[in-house]
Amino acid sequence: MTDELFERAVAVAERAYAPYSNYLVGAAVLARDGRVFEGVNVENASYPLGICAERAALSRAVVEGGCRPGDLEAMAITVSPCGGCRQWLYEFRLDRVTFRNREGEIVSYTPAELLPETWDLT
Ligand code: THU
Repeated sequence: MTDELFERAVAVAERAYAPYSNYLVGAAVLARDGRVFEGVNVENASYPLGICAERAALSRAVVEGGCRPGDLEAMAITVSPCGGCRQWLYEFRLDRVTFRNREGEIVSYTPAELLPETWDLT
């Protein structure tokens, strides 16, 4: 399933809207009930307003799928998630996050491993 999810992320990255960076990112998140929600980075001429692929995918899971923290099992991303997205992944309590690292290996981590000593509101 992890391989399949990663392939979904790779395929959807083609739909990224990234005219400023030309850096196409894809993400696919698997819900515990088997549904998959995809996301891409969507940039804006006002650069800071762009959204990362991971947060786009998680937003779709919330809006279209009614998902909440604990409902999502795994996410695959074409790249290592940025710091802000790591906080989102932690919020949604995914079991694992898979991506291709700088060495070209496909690796999996828990959100807590990606963001040790994480800040939490509670
Ligand atoms: N980007 C993502 O979509 N996810 C990440 O985790 C890293 C960065 C996007 C944001 C921007 O559109 C482009 O990659 C270059 O930073």
